[in-house]
Amino acid sequence: MNKQPIGIFDSGVGGTSIWKEINLLLPNENTIYLADSANAPYGLKSKEAIINLSIKNTEYLIKKGCKIIVVACNTATTNAINELRETYKIPFIGIEPAIKPAALNTQTKAVGILATKGTLSSELFHKTTDLFASNITVIERIGEGIVELIESGQLYSEDMKVLLKLYLQPMLNANIDYLVLGCTHYPYLMPLLIELLPNHVKIIDSGEAVARQTKAVLDKHNLLNTQRKKGNYQFYTNRNTDVMASLLDNAFGIDYLDF
Ligand code: SIN
Repeated sequence: MNKQPIGIFDSGVGGTSIWKEINLLLPNENTIYLADSANAPYGLKSKEAIINLSIKNTEYLIKKGCKIIVVACNTATTNAINELRETYKIPFIGIEPAIKPAALNTQTKAVGILATKGTLSSELFHKTTDLFASNITVIERIGEGIVELIESGQLYSEDMKVLLKLYLQPMLNANIDYLVLGCTHYPYLMPLLIELLPNHVKIIDSGEAVARQTKAVLDKHNLLNTQRKKGNYQFYTNRNTDVMASLLDNAFGIDYLDF
């Protein structure tokens, strides 16, 4: 049994969508969540800047004694996970857009993907798309401005609706039947997306798969916490604690971190 915490970081509050899935599957694990919201969004930064920020986040979580790190950010995964794995000994779990299940199941042979510029321009994303989706049409859209609105607490604003309509229309024109959410902030858009998309368009994200993978890797390394009581959860952000608290239904205390 290993009681060390699972470390989870994101460019901001979006990775709490991943934390929720991990917590659902592994409720007895202790977790530390770090939101680098002061530096959000990562999606428009250079690869070098994303690597440096990912290293800073990782070192913080390692100092806190984490046994594994979940990079709960598509942009950080696609740009920095190789460097993190080469630099540190502990296991890392990354998030990649769920292109594979969408490509395998589409009936219309057209899928949409909404992600950041950093993710869509990464080598890892192109490799995955070439591997699994070379025989279908993939409509990519950069979700410019979405992360900023979520980070500033404007999740259900009119501005958000305007942006989503703009990004979804070309996908609907291409007759997609799957929309892949390629950013961990985007699952919070689900109510709006359901409102804006026709019923036959399925929306998929990577949250559950990441939680399953986290469990499998902990098991493989004999790192699971088999205690019976619920885990301890610590949440840190270097920006607005209220936004993160609202996404977590105000159920936990959020600590401000000058980070
Ligand atoms: C961002 O910081 O731009 C979004 C994070 C993500 O890609 O999940």
